Amino acid sequence: MCESKKAGIIGLGMYLPDNVLTNKELEKMVDTTDEWIFTRTGIKERRIARNDEATSDMAVNAAREALKDAYLKPEDIDLIIVATITPDMFFPATACLVQEKLGARLVPAFDISVACSGFIYGLAIASQFISSGTYKHALVVAAEKLSAITDWSDRSTCVLFGDGAGAAVLGPVDEGGILSTHLGADGGKGDLIKLPAGGSRIPATKETIEGRLHFIKMNGSELFKHAVKIMADAALGATQPLGLKAEDIKLVIPHQANIRILNAAAKRMGLKQNQIYLNLERYGNMSAASSAVALVEAVKKGLIKKGDKIVLDAFGGGLTWGAMVIEWSK
Ligand code: UT7
Repeated sequence: MCESKKAGIIGLGMYLPDNVLTNKELEKMVDTTDEWIFTRTGIKERRIARNDEATSDMAVNAAREALKDAYLKPEDIDLIIVATITPDMFFPATACLVQEKLGARLVPAFDISVACSGFIYGLAIASQFISSGTYKHALVVAAEKLSAITDWSDRSTCVLFGDGAGAAVLGPVDEGGILSTHLGADGGKGDLIKLPAGGSRIPATKETIEGRLHFIKMNGSELFKHAVKIMADAALGATQPLGLKAEDIKLVIPHQANIRILNAAAKRMGLKQNQIYLNLERYGNMSAASSAVALVEAVKKGLIKKGDKIVLDAFGGGLTWGAMVIEWSK
């Protein structure tokens, strides 16, 4: 057991596949236009993993960078969590594959499946183990190969998603760290975005494949309606207990689903445009990896400094949501 302390992020890493798929290229695949996609979503291009590149491969690349950033070695890690809805396979968990590929010790390793909120859920779980003193260092990776579950003949979804991974190493910190967490879920709205077949309810058959039931099905406009309120409420759920107002927040790192959702949520939260970090123009929606990659980029760009208070904020399939206030401690 270690001494009980606040948990903070002590290392970050990310990985994005080289292959860029632009809106212009999508125009040749489905009945859409660059103009429709950009004005309705804010997305210009997204990354697509290679055929031989699975979620665990992207996760390991991001994890290695995060370990280096934390000045740690794989053997220093006491817990591995991977947030993904696109695991390499049902089981073993992608976290177990990551443990093996990294050469980490035989530490606990498991996946969480809460879609776009996964990075925040993962950080929340890991921070409990650290602040309780159970473990010293935890690796949380959010990695998605959404291209593998995207129906490339469905214009209403295929223009939205991309692949990538972000990773964080958590450890005890003397100052700052994770100050508050707000998590939630509404299973009653699970039908709004889901992958219907391949599980125990509808196992894979020739018919499910022909019916394209192994791809993401989404009621976009209905989801949109809930998203703005959920994101604003989640952020308030994390900031209000600390007495924080919009002006106290250096940067909000949101899940990157749609620029219109983010602008509306920002307005509801009373945030200025420069208080929201955006990268969906370049990567689209990478589910759990979106907020993780956005955080890594914002730190790399020097937008977050020691002592700054930032808010991670996400919602996604489940429905699930999560927000977290972190005082940057590096
Ligand atoms: O990660 C979390 C989960 N995902 C989300 O949060 C997504 C939330 N929803 C959204 O971002 C938006 O609802 C979308 C971007 C998915 C869609 O935008 P929208 O403004 O809600 O459009 P819509 O679904 O109401 O469709 C409007 C029209 C329809 O045509 P009609 O029926 O009005 O003739 C669609 O068929 O746009 C059509 N449409 C397209 N047209 C060109 C749908 N997709 C496309 C497309 N290109 N790719």
